[in-house]
Amino acid sequence: MADGTATPPASYYQRHIFFCLNQREGGEACCADHKAEDAFARCKSRAKALGLLGPGGVRVNRAGCLDRCAGGPIAVVYPEAVWYSYVDQADIDEIVESHLRDGVVVERLLTPPDVGR
Ligand code: FES
Repeated sequence: MADGTATPPASYYQRHIFFCLNQREGGEACCADHKAEDAFARCKSRAKALGLLGPGGVRVNRAGCLDRCAGGPIAVVYPEAVWYSYVDQADIDEIVESHLRDGVVVERLLTPPDVGR
């Protein structure tokens, strides 16, 4: 640009959701103990069924520990940086339809701000 500022490139994905799928040994809290893999698969299939996946749309990704294990199972949505603690597949469906599709944060599933590892 003439004034020296750069225009950021358009985001390749509109929204990106990461699921912690971390499995810990020795009884330490971890998302894999709370059916995180099933939730990841559900999110992916629901988003696909709604035609949300792909460039300009939604990407559903696996992640390792996001270091907020005490609130697990955990997923985080960017670019809004909204953290969710979900329980079951109905919660995942609500995140997909409300947040990933419609851009409306699911307030009841927000991870409390002070929850860490
Ligand atoms: S094990 Fe999932 S956030 Fe750490």
